[in-house]
Amino acid sequence: MSELHSDTGSSDAAWVNPLRDPHDKRLPRIAGPSGMVIFGVTGDLARRKLLPAIYDLANRGLLPAGFTLIGYGRREWSKAEFENYVLEAVQLGARTKFRENVWERLAEGMHFVTGNFDDDAAFDNLAATLSEMDRERGTGGNWAYYLSVPPDYFSDVCHQLERSGMAEAAGGSWRRVIIEKPFGNDQKSARRLNEIVNSVFPEEAVFRIDHYLGKETVQNIMALRFANQIFDPLWNAHYVDHVQITMAEDIGLGGRAGYYDGIGAARDVIQNHLIQLLALVAMEEPIAFSPTELQTEKIKVLRATRPVYPLSKTTARGQYTAGWQGSTFVKGLREEEGFDPKSTTETFAACTLEISSRRWAGVPFYLRTGKRLGRRVTEIALVFKEAPHQPFGERMTSALGNNAVVIRVQPDEGVLMRFGSKVPGSTMEVRDVNMDFSYSEAFTEESPEAYERLILDALLDESSLFPTNEEVELSWEILDPILDYWEEHGLPDEYAAGTWGPDSADQMLNRAGRTWRRP
Ligand code: BG6
Repeated sequence: MSELHSDTGSSDAAWVNPLRDPHDKRLPRIAGPSGMVIFGVTGDLARRKLLPAIYDLANRGLLPAGFTLIGYGRREWSKAEFENYVLEAVQLGARTKFRENVWERLAEGMHFVTGNFDDDAAFDNLAATLSEMDRERGTGGNWAYYLSVPPDYFSDVCHQLERSGMAEAAGGSWRRVIIEKPFGNDQKSARRLNEIVNSVFPEEAVFRIDHYLGKETVQNIMALRFANQIFDPLWNAHYVDHVQITMAEDIGLGGRAGYYDGIGAARDVIQNHLIQLLALVAMEEPIAFSPTELQTEKIKVLRATRPVYPLSKTTARGQYTAGWQGSTFVKGLREEEGFDPKSTTETFAACTLEISSRRWAGVPFYLRTGKRLGRRVTEIALVFKEAPHQPFGERMTSALGNNAVVIRVQPDEGVLMRFGSKVPGSTMEVRDVNMDFSYSEAFTEESPEAYERLILDALLDESSLFPTNEEVELSWEILDPILDYWEEHGLPDEYAAGTWGPDSADQMLNRAGRTWRRP
């Protein structure tokens, strides 16, 4: 331990060894002896997110001395080749400074095991490697298995882990499995996957990743709501007119056809990220800030959530066609590499949900997500009702909109309140102004990457930020009727790249006398 955290040769003056300072807040957050096996380590996610996050954790002094990283895959890689691959990923994606001594210690604990997901001999070899590491590096039999593989392989990998004895924790050690989305295609398939995973690992050993929950601003929803007094009295159907949850991206889907074609925006983003955001915004206060209490409240609100009908009027979907994204002319989805030229996959999805509870009765929750939209922004806006009485005449308030609280998840993280204020001058004129809290101005601390937080939480057995099997199945239950309806009713509408989605999305709100925010 002391060796790992000694900081010889560091070029980063800001780094302080947490073990030298008993008051360092990082102390309870340093993972105990453990290692991780990544299945699908050559995939895009591992390269872009997981490997850099592991390095960043090591660099922040949050991994144990003997932390061991094992890659499993088809390539015939030596230890050195694997190290080179990880190094490249770290140099491209890490958020913290590169420090030779940290890298060298991390690299010592790296190994690669070659094999397919149905290969008994390769899994036996992996099991032998884990035992060897336990003896040599003091990993203590504590292993996290990261399944960064398509769900079709979950069953093979879980059964191999079981068969080779790797799923079972002996004498006080632990074995956990971390699973990436997509977790199913609908409620039925999600249930089936849960059955497979839970037949090998008990639910408390399963960590399903929804990386939005690892975002600092998403965790702040709970702080904002439950650590303060000023918001809660307004956080209900008496004052809130509607809620808009937007996750807009400007990127297209070139290179992601294999995953995305046939999946679409609703399964990719609404089922997981947006419904989780809805749960955090709408749930009741948990009786304590603990995983069980949090999950209890999320499950309760998800059980009360359903689509608003008729779906022909309350949902919209679209597919981007060629258009101007800023100053660049970009292709439409059907011309993107790897996509079926007749693809009917939606790249924009919007729906209206309602929550049957005293707090939210009658308040529509509008959710939308899309690729190749005007700009990248994720935000949750609570739009308030108009004041019941206005002493000012119409002319004086013509520039006054509805009050709003906007949680800006990314980029430009913060919280904004919009309200009316008198315009300076000799007349009484009220206009919207913004009061803005911005993370970058308020804090000197930087936000860790979501994957850093989540990987560390899984190693620490802290499950608050991981959706349970029930939450996943409930989210599908909410979405399935909409997916079925779309399946039966024609094709997605078109929208030009760089715009804010199809006209049908605007009509969906206009019908109710509302408009989408243009963030
Ligand atoms: C992933 C989706 O879960 O989230 C992607 O599969 C999407 O399609 C990504 O681009 C967005 O994540 P972030 O953190 O960049 O908002």
